[in-house]
Amino acid sequence: MDYSIEIQPLDQLETDCIIVGVYKNQQLSPSATIVDDNTHQLIRNLIERGDIKGKSNETLLISVVPDSTIQRVLLIGLGDEEKFNLKLYRKALTAAVKALKTTQIKSVACTLAEIELNGCDYQWRCRQVVEIFNQNLYQFIETKSIKPTPVALSSVQITATEKNKDQANAGLVQGLAIAKAVSLTKYLSDLPGNICTPTYLAEQAIKVAENFANLEVEVLDEADLELLKMNSFLAVSRGSYQPAKLICLNYQGANSNKKPIVLIGKGLTFDAGGISLKSGGGMDEMKYDMCGGASVIGTLQAAAQMKLPLNIIGLIPASENMPDANANKPGDILISMSGKTIEVLNTDAEGRLILCDTLTYAEKFNPDVVIDLATLTGACLVALGRVPSGLLGNDDELCDDLIGASKTAGDSVWRLPLWEEYQDQLKSNFADMANIGGRDAGTITAACFLSRFAEDYRWAHLDIAGTAWRTGVNKGATGRPVPLLCQYLINRADA
Ligand code: BES
Ligand code: MN
Ligand code: ZN
Repeated sequence: MDYSIEIQPLDQLETDCIIVGVYKNQQLSPSATIVDDNTHQLIRNLIERGDIKGKSNETLLISVVPDSTIQRVLLIGLGDEEKFNLKLYRKALTAAVKALKTTQIKSVACTLAEIELNGCDYQWRCRQVVEIFNQNLYQFIETKSIKPTPVALSSVQITATEKNKDQANAGLVQGLAIAKAVSLTKYLSDLPGNICTPTYLAEQAIKVAENFANLEVEVLDEADLELLKMNSFLAVSRGSYQPAKLICLNYQGANSNKKPIVLIGKGLTFDAGGISLKSGGGMDEMKYDMCGGASVIGTLQAAAQMKLPLNIIGLIPASENMPDANANKPGDILISMSGKTIEVLNTDAEGRLILCDTLTYAEKFNPDVVIDLATLTGACLVALGRVPSGLLGNDDELCDDLIGASKTAGDSVWRLPLWEEYQDQLKSNFADMANIGGRDAGTITAACFLSRFAEDYRWAHLDIAGTAWRTGVNKGATGRPVPLLCQYLINRADA
């Protein structure tokens, strides 16, 4: 898909289709007014006939526009003019791309970025066009022998004026980077576990880094992990034929004395549960247990592509969790890299076991902040469903920054408490802690476990179990929380 900024006046624009907006009060967007004036009130006539009410999500394609260089007009309902906001803007763009997908339209000019939005500038509005079009045009076709016919659409022009074209171009650059990162994350996540193994994931990280001089990758293998005494991480991998990898990405976009932001992503390429084997239903979805790791690769790529003036480390502990004769067992006690001992009461609570050693490893980078992202608990789905990611952390400022970024990015989070009282649930009679905290507050006790390995720096944890992929007929990866993380990094770069 080719995205570009177009500053030609509308009466000189040549395109297969122009996208304009109509409010519920029958008001037209500025560009809709111009098109209407140039076409003998074509739009107003259709509104008067009742063909479009202007409700949010409504679309109407006008396929013939007499005497015009514009071949078609796609009307998008914007809803109440007074209530128009960021969410409705994103909804309007989604409706537009969905309507276009089924047509033969090859080139389109989108004017919706002109619509004023409280707190969202032209740059952000242009960026969203690219992100949302890309999000809705993604198809995973890698493993189909009969490929579906590709959509006809191949060029999207975002209209701007002489006055705001610099903002528009900056938004385009960001949008392209984020869109590409989301697609890469979705692609790696959608790949099945027999293709996307820890080794494969490491190779993909290396491939991404080859494109940028200031992005480097180091892949630690099991021998390296043994030397580091990452026994907790290694215990998870022991039941699998696939060797574990710790993928370390290093993006240096700022002076080397600037403390790095560390992103850690759970990279469980398949989670069968281990000896505490999961039940059969829906187990295929546990190929998505590496979505956190894929998001880290995507986010680092976007940061490098946007040339953000930051230092960022990405750490991905990658492993399978399988039930082999050599697998770790309930009751086993592990000595983690930190020296703290862990009683494994359930081998299916493996995410925290690979993350805890990685959190300890992160100390060596003297981080400014550490953010981990993990498809960590089914309990997060029970608590929050599939709408926001769970957010927990030991630093209010960092959590507030992430909440702010999530609102701008349209990639929601909801903070849960990480109070001392919950720590009691992790008591073990035989080790410093157990790896599970019982039925109650599963997302919180998982974060409590992690917090014990993140005492030396500001840390936040995103539980993306409900948000990283969709289940059911539309099963597929979402690429979340890449938009949120990119926004957080953009904000940090601007600060
Ligand atoms: N990867 C799963 C969490 C998960 C389950 C995410 C279902 C999305 C959907 C994780 O490794 C896991 O198995 N967690 C256990 C923890 C329990 C044993 C304390 C869970 O949630 O059941
Ligand atoms: Mn598990
Ligand atoms: Zn898991």
